[in-house]
Amino acid sequence: MKLGKLALTIATTATILVIGCTANKTVSEESLGLRTTNIYTEKDTTADKTAYGTDVAGTSKKIERAFQDAPPMIPHDTEGMLPITIDNNQCTMCHEPAVAESMGATPIPKSHFMDFRPKHNYDGKMFTKSIDNMKNEVSVKPISQLAGSRFNCSQCHAPQTTGKLAVENNFEAAYTKENGAFKSSWDEVILDDLDTLKK
Ligand code: HEC
Ligand code: HEC
Repeated sequence: MKLGKLALTIATTATILVIGCTANKTVSEESLGLRTTNIYTEKDTTADKTAYGTDVAGTSKKIERAFQDAPPMIPHDTEGMLPITIDNNQCTMCHEPAVAESMGATPIPKSHFMDFRPKHNYDGKMFTKSIDNMKNEVSVKPISQLAGSRFNCSQCHAPQTTGKLAVENNFEAAYTKENGAFKSSWDEVILDDLDTLKK
C-alpha cells in the first residue's frame, strides 16, 4: 500500500514537472501568422494597400491567366463602370463580339452566349427540379443573346491589385494549350451546333 502511494506521488510530481516545463515554453502572439504583430490589435499591422491598375481600357497590359481556361482578370481601370446594373453594362459596349475587335478588346467568348441551365419543369404553377441519377437534367443550348448568368461580368472577372504580396507566390500555371496564358480554349470545344436538347 505504502509503496503504491509513493509510486503515485512520484508519478504525479513527474507529471506536474513535465507540465510545468512545457508551460514555460510559450508561443508569442507576434510569432503567429504572417503579419508579425500582436493578434489582438491592428495598431501596428501594416500591409500594402489594395491598388488596382489605373491604366484606362485600351492602354493596359493583359494579365496571364491563372490556369488553362481561367476567367481572365481585368487589366484596366474599371472606374465608373461598376456596379453593373440592368440598364448600364459598359463592359458589353467594348467586349461585345461585334465591336470588340475594333476596340482592341477580347471578345466575349461563345460560352457566354449559351444556356447551361439544367432542364426543369414549370407548368405555370409548380416548379419541379428534374435531377436524376442519369444526368438527364443536363441542358446546353446556344442562345442569341448574352446569357443572363453571364451578365454580371465582375462576378467572375475581377481587377488585380498591383500591391506587393506579403509572401512570394511560387505558383506556376501548367497550360494545356500553347496560348493558354492569354486565350481560352472553350471556343474550340463548344461547337456552334452544340445543343443537347436536339436529338
Ligand atoms: C472602353 C472599352 C472597354 C470597356 C468599357 C471595358 N473594357 Fe475590358 N478591355 C478593353 C480593352 C481594350 C482590353 C485589352 C487590354 C487593353 O488594351 O487595355 C480589355 C481587357 C479586358 C479583359 C482581359 C481580357 C484578356 O484577354 O486577358 C477583361 C477580363 C476585361 N477587359 C473585362 C472587362 C469588364 C468586366 C468590363 C466592365 C466592368 C470591361 N472590361 C469594360 C476595353 C474595355
Ligand atoms: C459565371 C462566370 C462568368 C461571368 C459572369 C462572365 N464570365 Fe467571362 N469568362 C468566364 C470563364 C470561366 C472564362 C474562360 C472560359 C471561357 O472562355 O468560357 C471567361 C472568358 C472570358 C473572356 C476571354 C475569352 C477568350 O477568348 O479568351 C472574356 C473577354 C470574357 N470572359 C468577358 C466577359 C464579360 C465582358 C462578361 C460580362 C458581360 C463576362 N465575361 C461574364 C466566366 C465568366
